[in-house]
Amino acid sequence: MVEKEVEKNIEALLEERREFEAPEEFAANANANEASIYDDAAADPEAFWASQAERLDWFEPWDTVLEQDPPFHKWFTGGKLNASHNCLDRHLDSNGDRVAYHWVGEPGETKDVTYKDLHEEVCRLANSLKDLGIAKGDRVAIYMPMIPELPAAMLACARIGAPHSVVFGGFSAESLRDRINDAAAKVLITADGSYRKGNVVPLKANADEALQDTPSVEKVVVVARTGEDVSMTEGRDLVYSEVVEAASPDCPAEPMDAEDMLYILYTSGTTGKPKGIVHTTGGYLTGVSSTHNLIFDIKPDTDVYWCAADIGWVTGHSYIVYGPLANGCTSVLYEGAPDHPDKDRWWSIVEQYGVTILYTAPTAIRSCMKWGTDFPAKHDLSSLRLLGSVGEPINPEAWIWYQEFIGAGKAPVVDTWWQTETGQICISPLPGITTLKPGSATKAFPGVFADVVDEAGEAVGRGGGGYLVLRKPVPAMFRTIFGDEKRYVETYFEKFGNDTYFPGDGAKLDDDGYFWLLGRVDDVMNIAGHRISTYEVESALVDHKSVAEAAVVGRVDPKEGETIVAFVTPKEDKEGDDALMEELREHVAKVIGKLARPHSIVFTEDLPKTRSGKIMRRLLRDVATGQELGDVSTLQNAPILEEIKAKAESQQGDDE
Ligand code: WT7
Repeated sequence: MVEKEVEKNIEALLEERREFEAPEEFAANANANEASIYDDAAADPEAFWASQAERLDWFEPWDTVLEQDPPFHKWFTGGKLNASHNCLDRHLDSNGDRVAYHWVGEPGETKDVTYKDLHEEVCRLANSLKDLGIAKGDRVAIYMPMIPELPAAMLACARIGAPHSVVFGGFSAESLRDRINDAAAKVLITADGSYRKGNVVPLKANADEALQDTPSVEKVVVVARTGEDVSMTEGRDLVYSEVVEAASPDCPAEPMDAEDMLYILYTSGTTGKPKGIVHTTGGYLTGVSSTHNLIFDIKPDTDVYWCAADIGWVTGHSYIVYGPLANGCTSVLYEGAPDHPDKDRWWSIVEQYGVTILYTAPTAIRSCMKWGTDFPAKHDLSSLRLLGSVGEPINPEAWIWYQEFIGAGKAPVVDTWWQTETGQICISPLPGITTLKPGSATKAFPGVFADVVDEAGEAVGRGGGGYLVLRKPVPAMFRTIFGDEKRYVETYFEKFGNDTYFPGDGAKLDDDGYFWLLGRVDDVMNIAGHRISTYEVESALVDHKSVAEAAVVGRVDPKEGETIVAFVTPKEDKEGDDALMEELREHVAKVIGKLARPHSIVFTEDLPKTRSGKIMRRLLRDVATGQELGDVSTLQNAPILEEIKAKAESQQGDDE
């Protein structure tokens, strides 16, 4: 099934033969410009990672770089450090007045936050958290907009050794509740609301709904962002500014073991229960600061770096907060949507701050393509010298468009493959060394051992396709699933054994050994660069009173990306009409979050099932993508498929 789609995909991709060598001037000044870095790291990966760890400030040096008991691994054991100290304190003497974040609010306010400012805020908040009873090891949930208080909250937790669990502000009350409960968080830091496309998202109201059923939460700290009236529960809810002002600005950073937990971040798996991905301190900080430095070629004195993701996802954790701050560079932090108030918002920010490096996702690039080149053309984008992409395969057309219209036809585009689990970029060009091929994430980062294997785990070699694997752990890789070690072993190591990490992606190696990522091979969809499992959306749908049964698949289009298609059987007395369709879309938004809303819903009397009653998603995927139907011989109700197909086709016609 997936393999077939994948074949077609790659054929189209490999026809794309354009190659781009690293521009000479760029290569001459690049942080990484000696190809020997690859061989050296391959010959002695531990020495390479140790050299990267030495870029950090350690309170106590490590004894051992890597301790392995596959599938478990520990990095820099015996070493002590603190992430908040590495991101803030160590820059203060030399660069305390440097801007850490040029913050831009969606409605238009701006604020420059220096390293000194951020340090003070973090220390005060860390002290307040202690006052609220947070001790080392206690979990703190964070549900906030993209405002400077968000990285401050994360670093305040890191400062006192309290793992944070950031929940994306676009998630629903129910999603927030489940994540708080899984981590048994003691404190929640949130805001009254956030701005999105000119509207207010009622974060506090969502939080209040979640908090009805979260016995572990003792205190809630609320930032006033929108200034709207929100209900405050006496004895539980506190105003952020009051708490912070009352606290002392003096808070030494707690020396943490390299393997102490830094944070939990939830991501979708193939079941309804999200996985709490556990990241620790020393390896994580080493991995993100090293990749950020070498892949984005960071020159902290001159660069203005902008990762236009949301901190609620791992991209933001690693490449808005920990990587850039550990490297002491200046970033842009933008709160809102790219098309508010108009479709040139990003480009006006690039011009205003002279952004030199931009890191975003193919889905955003494709939106910009649709909006047209007039919007970027209105602004001076000549400061941009490097562009990055992450989250899903980037189609060559989008890659070329990005380089041409945003990067003035010359900025290298680094397509970076990684995951919530890996914590750090694993496959990516080094822009001063690697010859680029649009659509390919190119090569494993130095010290990363990526490969493509067949079903039996054998390397397929150049020219072959199969499953992407990592043959050795990388320092920033997660250590386990919070509270569920069994699931950690089963999900990632059952397929190929304890020495081989299986990320869940298909990939192909071309004749030059370049990696071409082909999307997920499990029941996890990639919607605008975010993981949503088909099971989660199905559960949300059948939870609605009018739904008898539902099956969900991703429709993959190389130009459009992946969209959610739901096949729904209404209960007997219910009509599958437009009103129900809208109701169901809203229902899914309420249960999971807006990003999980099905793009299209096909109502059907029955779903294609095997004789044992199992829904055949493979066939529905064929229907959704308009492909010829695969083998239907095992179906108990084959005729229904033709009906569904006809309906889906007529609806697709309506879409256009
Ligand atoms: C999944 C991880 C890592 C930050 C954002 C997503 C897909 C990610 C690429 C890329 C092709 C990519 C994979 C991966 N993915 N980057 N450059 N090319 N696919 O993090 O939510 O953990 O999702 O995103 O399928 O497994 P995530």
